[in-house]
Amino acid sequence: MKIIQAKDYDDMSRRAADMISAQVILKPDCVLGLATGSSPIGTYRRLVERYENGDLDFGDVTTVNLDEYRGLPRENEQSYYYFMHSHLFDYVNINPERTFLPDGMNEDPQQECARYEEVIRAAGGVDLQLLGLGHNGHIGFNEPGEFFEKGTHCVNLQPSTIEANKRFFASADEVPKQAYSMGIRNIMAAKKILVVVSGADKAEAVKNAFFGPVTPKVPGSILQLHPDVTVVADEAALSGCTLPE
Ligand code: GLP
Repeated sequence: MKIIQAKDYDDMSRRAADMISAQVILKPDCVLGLATGSSPIGTYRRLVERYENGDLDFGDVTTVNLDEYRGLPRENEQSYYYFMHSHLFDYVNINPERTFLPDGMNEDPQQECARYEEVIRAAGGVDLQLLGLGHNGHIGFNEPGEFFEKGTHCVNLQPSTIEANKRFFASADEVPKQAYSMGIRNIMAAKKILVVVSGADKAEAVKNAFFGPVTPKVPGSILQLHPDVTVVADEAALSGCTLPE
């Protein structure tokens, strides 16, 4: 695991965008695994800038997103479908038919999870997976538990996740209680993984996930066992850890 210390959120976003740009330039028909949340917004902004400057071409790229709230229609501003369109897809030349997310409106979890597994398989697997890190160490919506969830599954969101995400909704009651999420097997199968983390409120999660024992109680800790992970974290997020010189 490579840990890059960025100065602040902007610096983190620039470095993460560098890695994603390199992936797209080296393999124009690559499959990007994408994430939502506030952490990657700056990264997406940089990618849009590079596209506008003519330095990046998304024409042959395929994307598969990690997760989606169950029960939110695409047009709901808090759906991850809406998020991806308003932060990236609508501003670059990506083919909308090659952008995939779980369908939050499919009421049949078994069918939806099987469908999404097939989407990932048919895309040929993920070349580069972008991840954020939840306060409780979750990745995607893989919440702390007794075992590592394997494939795409329907998750009951933990109270702390609902609490953290309520800032985007009118109240905590409006935050969906469930989500569809790729599992740890899907994430670990990516060829490369890039994690972006920012802010002092994530310092504990960073310490537990990347410097503590590998345990399903901290889902992000599994990343320590992946052969090609880069964590780009800002100084505040790394404030609880001592990095080797
Ligand atoms: C959400 C998402 C995750 C994200 C995490 C952190 O619940 N499902 O994919 O990484 O929480 O979000 P943020 O970057 O806003 O702190």
